[in-house]
Amino acid sequence: MKFLSTLSLGVLAALAAPAQAQDFPGSAPIVAVVPFAAGGPTDKVARDVTAVMARHLKGQIVIENVGGAGGTIGAKKVATARNDGHTVLIHHIGMSTAPALYRQLGFDPLKDFEMIGEIADVPMVLLGTKNLPPDNFKDLLPYIKANSSKLFLANAGIGSASHLCGLLFMSTIGTQLGTVPYKGTAPALTDLIGGQVNLMCDQTTNVAGQIKAGVVKPYVAMQSARIDAFKDIPAAAEQGLPGIEVKIWHAMYAPKGTPPAVVEKLSAALQAAVEDPVFRGKMAELGAQAATGERARPESLRKHLGNEIAKWTPVIRAAGVYAD
Ligand code: MLT
Repeated sequence: MKFLSTLSLGVLAALAAPAQAQDFPGSAPIVAVVPFAAGGPTDKVARDVTAVMARHLKGQIVIENVGGAGGTIGAKKVATARNDGHTVLIHHIGMSTAPALYRQLGFDPLKDFEMIGEIADVPMVLLGTKNLPPDNFKDLLPYIKANSSKLFLANAGIGSASHLCGLLFMSTIGTQLGTVPYKGTAPALTDLIGGQVNLMCDQTTNVAGQIKAGVVKPYVAMQSARIDAFKDIPAAAEQGLPGIEVKIWHAMYAPKGTPPAVVEKLSAALQAAVEDPVFRGKMAELGAQAATGERARPESLRKHLGNEIAKWTPVIRAAGVYAD
């Protein structure tokens, strides 16, 4: 009898799974964890994409900002969350650099998550405070070298996009600056505008408004070509910074063990969101580019994340940079 009762429980569980997915998300909100402070670039991408996804899922998605340690605190929270589909993570390139930077990371980006799909790519700009004396990149370099002990570069913690971009900038110009970590580049930008820090490498999804308002000084786009939405900012390649091509990709993840049918529903909603003209237009206005529906699929993200971890790990190991 016991065997039969076990069998029937197993059959019942199997039959219940599609029904669970069929009802998903139901009345309970989905919590999308953003591992940086509210109001920053990751938060911006998250709010815009989940607004469209919620419509397709006929449910509610709320954002929970869990900042700290370059995004690893928020990522770890999702790695150990209930895997019923009501908790997801929205993170960026930092998911691929964390394994090399954090020796006590506490999770494996590939093994402890189900992949949902990619969301958008965002370019970065090197910015200064409005009153920083150099008015262009040509004059900025000698100024930095002459004042390196007095200048501070803001970032969102070790492993954050702003940290990686700052590292790349300092190694390219051969000059080390003091760095000030924040729980996100939203609070960092406030201090940059206030003059508490002098420079920051940040994503256009965060600084577009401040650049247009002229409250910060954009020096260079950290890529080889100019950013379509910011054509007047020179690109790194034309400023004598060859080989700089920083683009911050963003993606969505769920805890390992989230039912496949639920993963499929989340990914289908994400594919619809990234192909939504309003979302694509919002990203473009901010200099960013929404992913294609193809990239918003689990198998595509798993391949991309694996490639990115393989790319960044030797670079970080060679630099001997560790967060812990
Ligand atoms: C970063 O990695 O710099 C983050 O994008 C900052 C943020 O989203 O606040």
